Amino acid sequence: MSLLDVRNLYVRYAMRRGEAVSALEDINFVVEPGEFLTIVGPSGCGKSTLLKVLGGLVTPTSGEASFKRTRVNRPRREMGFVFQSTVLLPWRTVLENALLPVEVLNLDRKTYTERAKDLLALVGLSDFSNRYPGELSGGMQQRAAIVRTLVPDPEVLLMDEPFGALDAMSRETMNVETMRICLETKKTVVFVTHSIPEAVFLGDRVMVMTPRPGKIAEVLSIRFARPRDLDVMGNSVFASAVTRIRSHFNVKHTID
Ligand SMILES: Nc1ncnc2c1ncn2[C@@H]1O[C@H](COP(=O)(O)OP(=O)(O)OP(=O)(O)O)[C@@H](O)[C@H]1O
Ligand SMILES: [Mg+2]
Repeated sequence: MSLLDVRNLYVRYAMRRGEAVSALEDINFVVEPGEFLTIVGPSGCGKSTLLKVLGGLVTPTSGEASFKRTRVNRPRREMGFVFQSTVLLPWRTVLENALLPVEVLNLDRKTYTERAKDLLALVGLSDFSNRYPGELSGGMQQRAAIVRTLVPDPEVLLMDEPFGALDAMSRETMNVETMRICLETKKTVVFVTHSIPEAVFLGDRVMVMTPRPGKIAEVLSIRFARPRDLDVMGNSVFASAVTRIRSHFNVKHTID
């Protein structure tokens, strides 16, 4: 049974002047348990909209997204969202930020404090649990945000360009880290990015979207074994996947 199922999905946004913008048209796909699906496409093609529909934050105009065959119509604890900006609370320490969902969901504080500490260790932030976000680098803040999302143990991680604000080197490190964390915690992931190499490096499958209104142009399977290291990017199969995906976008719609 697939974990996520998107059927005949259309999203139109009403504008202030009464016009409407068609963000997504006729989107159909499934995500299997444990799968890492990456979504790549030009700016404005509806990637964030699609993730928000999966997360229950946007209601489709028609069609539906379902989680374990139940229609998604509200945010659910089983689905964790990682946003492009880290949205950590600056007045709370890293550990206190990680425990935010525990307070919101009213979970047992003692049990989840242990879990949060284990997860901070997993991402190499043990020594920083009592620091404030402003004292961390961008990559460390993003790792703290990922820990916060993982604390309530969601089955699915919805990640919207989580490393878009990082420099190229931190971004590569975070990609390797993300893969390791998701393998170790056995998460199903839907990961949105502008970067074609990032999509190929991380994905079991890459879903390529057309410019707005977003439709699915192609879905490619990427068969490199896991865990992958950055050397895979020098492989000719990797290069041909990147070239193939890039061929969907003309110069006007260059995306990385
Ligand atoms: N709340 C909203 N109200 C009206 N229009 C919206 C709203 N959110 C998004 N849109 C429009 O829907 C389209 C898709 O937006 P979306 O944010 O999903 O794109 P995206 O692929 O995530 O872009 P980017 O790569 O720049 O983040 C855009 O044309 C955008 O202007
Ligand atoms: Mg977006």
